[in-house]
Amino acid sequence: MLDQVTNQSTSAPVATATSKLVVERVSKWFRTPHATVHALDNVSMQVAAGEVVCVVGPSGCGKSTLLDIIAGLTKPDAGHVLADGQPVTGPGPRRLVVFQEPSLFPWLDVFGNVMFGLRLCPELSNGERREIAHRYLALVGLEKFERAHVHELSGGMKQRVALARALAPDPQVLLMDEPFGALDAMTREHLYDDIQRIWSDSRKTIVFVTHNMREAACLGDRVLLMSKAPGRIVQHFEIPLPRPRSIYDVELIGHAGRVADALRGTIGGGVTE
Ligand SMILES: Nc1ncnc2c1ncn2[C@@H]1O[C@H](COP(=O)(O)OP(=O)(O)O)[C@@H](O)[C@H]1O
Ligand SMILES: [Mg+2]
Repeated sequence: MLDQVTNQSTSAPVATATSKLVVERVSKWFRTPHATVHALDNVSMQVAAGEVVCVVGPSGCGKSTLLDIIAGLTKPDAGHVLADGQPVTGPGPRRLVVFQEPSLFPWLDVFGNVMFGLRLCPELSNGERREIAHRYLALVGLEKFERAHVHELSGGMKQRVALARALAPDPQVLLMDEPFGALDAMTREHLYDDIQRIWSDSRKTIVFVTHNMREAACLGDRVLLMSKAPGRIVQHFEIPLPRPRSIYDVELIGHAGRVADALRGTIGGGVTE
């Protein structure tokens, strides 16, 4: 578990033997012909198995870069990431990402998209894959839409398909990059319930990037706050509320407000939810 159990702290928790993910002193620069962007500066964090950690911070502070580095999609210039104690050198089926844009294959139907995700599991027979695809589509409430095509789906349904596609190969770690950012409030609220239900059934380790404070307080065991660029983790907050949580819960709103106040402090201006 965490070495540091405080409601608010500015020091990063120290990695422990039980950490599922360890990010150690990661820095990243992007060099283009016109400029060099210092995206991440000496970022360290650790996530315990079965923990949900939300990462918040101003736009452009390096949240997506951090998630991509944890996924193994981007290489850090300094520092490293360990998953189960092993260095992350590339993407793999144990750490799957759900992006803001669901990035489904339009030429496949809903079932086909989830089956495509299961290509990551060559050990499974086709029958097993089909059974798993049915199961995860039912889990996200889309059992009646298996044969629907992507263009026939609402934004929320597309994101549900993306979630089923990421969950079906049974990754140990789910990395979510503002997955509900483009959805309307009511659809998001349904998905908060879904994510909490799925998490309580599966106890996946989840790193969830968002700029929505209530979303972070609703889903996270902890919320890590990043500074504006170059991104550093400047504060972390424990959210010790029982689950399932409602974004209308007064205590939850209080936690979200404290994170928002701290964020306002880091960017020196207003915060939009
Ligand atoms: N592939 C890239 N090439 C050049 N610059 C990049 C690239 N990816 C991200 N950046 C820059 O790095 C910074 C952090 O980006 P990002 O991680 O997307 O931030 P966030 O997700 O917090 O909005 C931004 O200034 C962005 O323009
Ligand atoms: Mg981003």
